[in-house]
Amino acid sequence: MPKIFVTRALPQSAIQMLIDEFGPESVSVFPEDRVIHRDELLAGAKGVDALLPILTETIDTEVMDAAGPQLKIIANYAVGFNNIDVDAATQRKIPVTNTPGVLTETTADLTWALILGTARRISEGERYLRAGKWESWAPQLLLGDDIHEKTLGIFGLGRIGAAVARRAKGFNMRIIYTDTIRKDPALEEELGATFVDKPTLLAESDILTLHCPFLDETRHAFSSDEFSAMKPSAVFVNTTRGPVVDEAALVLALQTGQITAAGLDVFEEEPEIHPGLLKCENALLIPHLGSATKETRAKMAEIAATNVIARLKGETPPNCVNPEVL
Ligand code: DGY
Repeated sequence: MPKIFVTRALPQSAIQMLIDEFGPESVSVFPEDRVIHRDELLAGAKGVDALLPILTETIDTEVMDAAGPQLKIIANYAVGFNNIDVDAATQRKIPVTNTPGVLTETTADLTWALILGTARRISEGERYLRAGKWESWAPQLLLGDDIHEKTLGIFGLGRIGAAVARRAKGFNMRIIYTDTIRKDPALEEELGATFVDKPTLLAESDILTLHCPFLDETRHAFSSDEFSAMKPSAVFVNTTRGPVVDEAALVLALQTGQITAAGLDVFEEEPEIHPGLLKCENALLIPHLGSATKETRAKMAEIAATNVIARLKGETPPNCVNPEVL
């Protein structure tokens, strides 16, 4: 009977899939709905065949060693897997899986919520209204920026970046993007997106949105040099991973008018927020909600369970990020 440890309560449909396959004794779910402490994680991982963590847990050699040599899969409940030491897993021949695809459209929707909310100062307006400050309609009250017919800059035209670009069509925007390599011309044509270099992206974007993965190479890809090269009227949006942005530099850019506003779903030290950001009225801040819909979170859990089931049955897990171990 294999042992599976799920580090935080997930949608029940996925837990049921595991129970149906391996029986209730196989599946252990951390019982409290809070971030698991490190010692609890190490204890829970002990002797398991499958570990199903979420993105707030660091799965490193210590956890893999605590689990022991029979650990057969680490099935992350997220598309991003920067919380897992994949190299260490690969050395130990442990497949690591993620949950791609299902959260693409949901995260693109949320990105647009941030673009619209930031450019049109929605959360500022709501704070103002709730504080009882609204006295009358006024010609200069909380003026934002138009989005339609502006230039949308996309940093990283992967699945989510492309889904964001598709939505921009309704706003009749010019779309430019940069990436490590230029994308297929057929995709560029479908999206109406033009490949540019990073300096051009910075100089020409009215709205700049990040959709690159978080890697060593993308850490602080946006820092003071980048913000000072952007338009003072630019709106900056991040729904990928916090450390892609140098938050201290962003705070300065927002305070000094190097850019006009920022919409952020992710932060360098989640759940800590840079104190400067909390003081910026021109920052719209939300707590990592990119994939947070009922439908998508259930599908992510089912994908993670599918990966576990496949691996424990000796099959190929469909979403392996280090397939060389298989
Ligand atoms: C992911 O899956 O990586 C997302 O950030 C979760 O919202």
